[in-house]
Amino acid sequence: MDTKRSNERASGTDSSEAISSSKLRNLLKIGTHGTAMPLYLRAQIFTSICLPIAAIALLCGLLTNIDESSNRNFQIQVPHLYVNGTGSSMMANTYWRSLAMFSTYLTNQKASYIVDSKYISTSSGVGKSDFSNGYSLYAATDSDVSKADLQYYLPDNNPQKTNISLYTSPKTYPHLGSIMIPTIAGAMGIVYNIQGFPEGASLILNGSVLGDIFCGAISWWNDTAIQQLNPSIVMPSKMIKGTGRGDSSGSTQIFTTYLAAHSTQFANRIGISSQPKWPSSFVLGNSAVELITFLHRLSIPSHIYQWKQSCKQSIGQDPQVAILLNSNGTKTTPTTESVTQAMQKVAADTEFSRHNFLTILDVNDPIAYPIALMSFVLLRENYFWFTPGSETDCQRVKALVYFWYYFLTTQAL
Ligand SMILES: *[C@@H]1O[C@H](CO)[C@@H](O)[C@H](O)[C@H]1NC(C)=O
Ligand SMILES: *[C@@H]1O[C@H](CO)[C@@H](O)[C@H](O)[C@H]1NC(C)=O
Ligand SMILES: *[C@@H]1O[C@H](CO)[C@@H](O)[C@H](O)[C@H]1NC(C)=O
Ligand SMILES: *[C@@H]1O[C@H](CO)[C@@H](O)[C@H](O)[C@H]1NC(C)=O
Ligand SMILES: *[C@@H]1O[C@H](CO)[C@@H](O)[C@H](O)[C@H]1NC(C)=O
Repeated sequence: MDTKRSNERASGTDSSEAISSSKLRNLLKIGTHGTAMPLYLRAQIFTSICLPIAAIALLCGLLTNIDESSNRNFQIQVPHLYVNGTGSSMMANTYWRSLAMFSTYLTNQKASYIVDSKYISTSSGVGKSDFSNGYSLYAATDSDVSKADLQYYLPDNNPQKTNISLYTSPKTYPHLGSIMIPTIAGAMGIVYNIQGFPEGASLILNGSVLGDIFCGAISWWNDTAIQQLNPSIVMPSKMIKGTGRGDSSGSTQIFTTYLAAHSTQFANRIGISSQPKWPSSFVLGNSAVELITFLHRLSIPSHIYQWKQSCKQSIGQDPQVAILLNSNGTKTTPTTESVTQAMQKVAADTEFSRHNFLTILDVNDPIAYPIALMSFVLLRENYFWFTPGSETDCQRVKALVYFWYYFLTTQAL
């Protein structure tokens, strides 16, 4: 976003901001030398500069302000900035790793602050509600936002018509001006652990059989449908012990969407849901991590993605991941290539929009793995609603945007 637009936005705010930047700098100098400026006074001053800075909405525009303005305007050092977010447990590992790399990056850059970025792996559902209730600066989600929340997305093509005072209204403060940006693609692997299954062989499934398994219509490994898909092995006469996510989860929403599309029985008995009523024989885990811990005792721990290291630690060996026939009729497994292929096919002609939800599920392609998904981050275009006048909150918002810019532009992540 260009400066012209950010100026427009800033100038739309009310007159309490009309402290000139030179006056502000003078005031701040007093605060940093000698006796410390009382907090409440600083708070008042920062109310006025916080608004224009936070008003700078989109990522790029804000970034250009980060280094310059933090050196010029913010002489007061903020040792720790808490930048908190919650959401997707499936993607948590990636975010934790990236946040750690970002911290190292800031240290190497000799940044004058430390970003203490907590990402709490809850679930997409909790992440979205934390975000819309104003408890977090960002949310990570694998599923789309609800129709009701969509009204809080600013329109894409009329920035001039944006009336900033609408977004500073206390009545609407937690929500307005959200944006959704795709961050990572992932896949859900069907992990199994069947007693008596021949070593070295791989289980082959298709969408309809998988749906029948997850609604309890197929409950034995030696079921004729499974046997037909695996002609070269004799399926053991064992009961299928399934697991499912018990909490509300974006990945479950996507998983059930896939199953319902391929299995009529699944659609009728369970249906699409972020928190479905799994068959009563299923053992439920409340996060992707918890599902992994069941691996050693259950035979088909649901839709765990390729979290191989954790799986290995839990069962002492590499997890077995089923081969899935995609809608093109090809045998696929969740790999970087098979997911990238799905993403390329879908993303090629997707333009940027504030509500940038796209799905890479069930792409008809000879290479694409079918249960693939994109994960997203929810950010606000306007962070006005944070504690009025809090200098720290101002800095936190800048650090937040800096992190996501880093995340989206650093190849190494
Ligand atoms: C995030 O930080 C804010 C401000 O410190 C706090 O009020 C809120 O409870 C935190 N949310 C979570 C989910 O930690
Ligand atoms: C912006 O919205 C506020 C509150 O609804 C209204 O009072 C004001 O006149 C609007 N300003 C413009 C330029 O439309
Ligand atoms: C999946 O496999 C089963 C068993 O071979 C078969 O009956 C079913 O038609 C297959 N589904 C699709 C969509 O091909
Ligand atoms: C699967 O094995 C069970 C237990 O041995 C048996 O009762 C059932 O008939 C078998 N199913 C098929 C389709 O062979
Ligand atoms: C599989 O994909 C190829 C290439 O996109 C396409 O030409 C073909 O029709 C597809 N086959 C099926 C069965 O959908």
